Amino acid sequence: MSVAKKEYKRVTVKSLIEMKRNGERISMLTAYDFSMAKIVDDANVDVILVGDSASNVMAGHETTLPITLDQMIYHASSVIRAIKRALVVVDIPFGSYQSDPKEALRSAIRIMKESGAHAVKVEGGIEIKESVKRILNAGIPVMGHLGLTPQSIYKFGTYTVRAKEEEEAKKLLDDAKLLEKLGCFAIVLEKIPAQLAKKVAESVHIPVIGIGAGNGVDGQVLVIHDLLGITQEFNPRFLRRYMNLYEEMGNAISQYVTDVKSRDFPNEEEQY
Ligand code: KIV
Repeated sequence: MSVAKKEYKRVTVKSLIEMKRNGERISMLTAYDFSMAKIVDDANVDVILVGDSASNVMAGHETTLPITLDQMIYHASSVIRAIKRALVVVDIPFGSYQSDPKEALRSAIRIMKESGAHAVKVEGGIEIKESVKRILNAGIPVMGHLGLTPQSIYKFGTYTVRAKEEEEAKKLLDDAKLLEKLGCFAIVLEKIPAQLAKKVAESVHIPVIGIGAGNGVDGQVLVIHDLLGITQEFNPRFLRRYMNLYEEMGNAISQYVTDVKSRDFPNEEEQY
């Protein structure tokens, strides 16, 4: 099976649509700071998401709700300074777009202007239709996010799989078609049945990127701290850990402590 069909020097929203058309899967990962974004970009990840999961993995909050627009702009501008190839998408945080379309546009403009990001992501379907339209009318590319939308966690009550029932599945499919019609360039589907995700991907022409949404979609996204095994307590079925960096970093740091205590560090070559 081929892995990459075409070299993209710079990934754009157009490249992603082309990748879907050509059957090339899209890789997407989160990053929130300069150093990590540089590694992710150098490894040829197509899309870097400055996710509001920064609220969890960077700031230690239980949910994504507390992170502010200013904090998202700070993370996004750090990421932007590191990248050469990837498309950088930034989450508009909770409370910065739901109340009215003008506020949504103001938030999106601040992200684009102050961080240099390439696109924004919002959670929801028909409920945020006017906000999505307003942002798109200003020429800002929008990525949708349906299924388990963490900004609505208090409405759902749990982080379990969404859209298992027919009514919610139908609404999700309708929302995906609506987002495409409005002009969104891609949609993230989080934690929904694989069959439904596949049906959505086959029903729209824009790329559908899954997290816990099976293998029938056009690309995959993970939170980088989960992929690297920095987070330890988060173990959903969909997560593939590629490293146990928590343990590896812990071992290196313990060794450093031992070396300092034993006066082994610094040695003759490590001083002036
Ligand atoms: O904030 C985030 O990291 C996300 C991904 C889980 C898709 O929205």
